[in-house]
Amino acid sequence: LSETKSLNLFIIGATGLIGSTLIKQIEKEKDRIRKDQKLNIKIVGLANSKKMAFNEEGVTLKNLKEESSIENFVKNMRELNIPNSIFVDCTASEEVLKKYPEILKASISISTPNKKANSSNLHQYTKLALAASIVIGPTPPGTGVISLAFSEAASKSTSQFLYETNVGAGLPVLSTLNDLLHSGDKIEKIEAVLSGTLSYIFNSYDGSIPFSEVVKKAKVKGYTEPDPRDDLNGIDVARKLLILARETGQMLELKDIDTENLVPEKARSSKSVEEFFTKLKKEDTYFESIRDKAAKNNKKLCYIATLEKNKAYIRLESIGQNHPFYSLSGSDNIVSFTTNRYKNTPLVIKGPGAGAEVTAAGVFADILRISNTSFDGKIAHGDFIKKLKKKKLIISLIGMSNIGKTFWSKKLTKLGFKHISCDNIIKEKLGPKLKERGSQGIEDVAKWLGQPHEKQFKKNEAQYLKLEKETMNEIFQNISAENQNIVIDTTGSIVHIESNILEDLKKHSLVIYLETPEEMKKEMYENFIAHPKPLIWKDNYKDNDLAKSYLELLENRSTLYKEHADLTIPFHQIAENNLNETEFLNLIEENPSTKPMIHARKVTIRIAVNIIYLTQ
Ligand SMILES: NC(=O)c1ccc[n+]([C@@H]2O[C@H](COP(=O)([O-])OP(=O)(O)OC[C@H]3O[C@@H](n4cnc5c(N)ncnc54)[C@H](OP(=O)(O)O)[C@@H]3O)[C@@H](O)[C@H]2O)c1
Repeated sequence: LSETKSLNLFIIGATGLIGSTLIKQIEKEKDRIRKDQKLNIKIVGLANSKKMAFNEEGVTLKNLKEESSIENFVKNMRELNIPNSIFVDCTASEEVLKKYPEILKASISISTPNKKANSSNLHQYTKLALAASIVIGPTPPGTGVISLAFSEAASKSTSQFLYETNVGAGLPVLSTLNDLLHSGDKIEKIEAVLSGTLSYIFNSYDGSIPFSEVVKKAKVKGYTEPDPRDDLNGIDVARKLLILARETGQMLELKDIDTENLVPEKARSSKSVEEFFTKLKKEDTYFESIRDKAAKNNKKLCYIATLEKNKAYIRLESIGQNHPFYSLSGSDNIVSFTTNRYKNTPLVIKGPGAGAEVTAAGVFADILRISNTSFDGKIAHGDFIKKLKKKKLIISLIGMSNIGKTFWSKKLTKLGFKHISCDNIIKEKLGPKLKERGSQGIEDVAKWLGQPHEKQFKKNEAQYLKLEKETMNEIFQNISAENQNIVIDTTGSIVHIESNILEDLKKHSLVIYLETPEEMKKEMYENFIAHPKPLIWKDNYKDNDLAKSYLELLENRSTLYKEHADLTIPFHQIAENNLNETEFLNLIEENPSTKPMIHARKVTIRIAVNIIYLTQ
């Protein structure tokens, strides 16, 4: 067996600056990575806004021929269903990021420099976090209600969402922040210059040329957006500060970031970039006056984003020589963390905060990080969707009587499933015996079985279990020849037949345990005490104590059902949501156990979640 793992990339935005640089970097490094890290990186899907291409064996930009849409890109990617897949979003598109939850739920990880998702409104952001099953509370894991509520979801995480390049491009800003938080440090203040453009503008604004000329020069050098107002309005910086705030657990919206807009009011509505520059020129004296005032105090201007004590603001500030940002030059970014541990001297990260090479390298590093923290795909029961479509899907429902096995089996027949009721088959097999007693019907099976202290019980129980085993074996023999999706509606006592039957059940079908909630167990116990109905007890009847033994039986069965199931569906998940049959199937399909498993590290991102959003 080869130890080399495969990593399959679907890159959207492939012809853009970052996308195309990333592809070049991958091509250049992939042989070394295959040799050193035993990782075979394959680009299996590519797209820009017009064309797309897919091939499991690999694609290049030359293959971009098929007409592209984000819907079809995601559909093709899901249908290919290749284990260890990563979706790499190198666009700035809002349309693309709306697909993230669906992609993450399909067990496909995401790496992206696109900051729009993490700075979207809290509702959308929360949906994304839930899809990635990586919601961690406002303080390091383990504290806070939200963290507890989601610890279970986090442990089931199958897909990762990495976005180191959202803030400071290739600089390790977010990973440093997360390392500080996870190791128990407390953030007191974050100060940062987060725009390469504004850094360049204010680092070169020394009074030798007017402010409007400095901005023009930045545009000519390619530092600004096509319309420099998109840099000067501070929104891009606000998005980055918002991401930093959310990482630290502050549940802010973009509107909560108090942002100084550097576009003079009169120039905001300019119809063209030319008109904007004409109006900006008229404001040169204003900018010169604040620069001059700062210079007279040996200070310089710096556009600083600050996060402290639940406040997030961005201001053009005058800073003196003892400020760590005073020495900033060129278009560099700088982030300073003042924390419990880094109190007197803050931890500072400085360097280029934009540029194709460093940003693409940051995305590449995220991709490798995902692959390092995941391992080869293990398909629990083959591909759910493919089997469903080919009419080869077999589901078994296990759980206590009356938990809804027959109810859901019948519902699934509406979707063309064949319903195999084990109770009915056993009842038919027992028919002659019941007839001898002048009765028929499943209730009579109960009467025939009797109570555990009665004389005939052991014999009849053994006979019942023998018939049940026979029934299951017959089902196993016949189902593979069926050309129909099947739901096996098992008996509550299936966990008491020999264990090889349960192993076979797992081999032949996807075993789903409809879990009994604690409050229902209590109710079942009370009903049983009022009207003890005959049951298969196996070895659970003890000390001639029906009530105590029943409690133990409930507990033992719950453990056994869970142990033998491929996946467990909590009762409330079905009951409270009033699901229809399709939603019930979706619930199974979306469960990580039915997918190629990518075992993700537990904590990938820290997301602050407002409980209001969770309950929506
Ligand atoms: N450049 C940097 O230094 C830097 C630094 C940090 C983060 N980022 C982020 O990285 C991302 C990419 O930046 P970039 O500079 O590479 O941008 P870019 O050169 O404008 O490239 C964008 C790419 O996305 C494609 N695209 C746009 N909308 C699409 C859609 N709906 N479906 C499919 N493809 C679509 C474009 O295809 P067409 O060519 O067909 O339109 C193009 O290939 C942005 O989110 C940016 O904020 C960039």
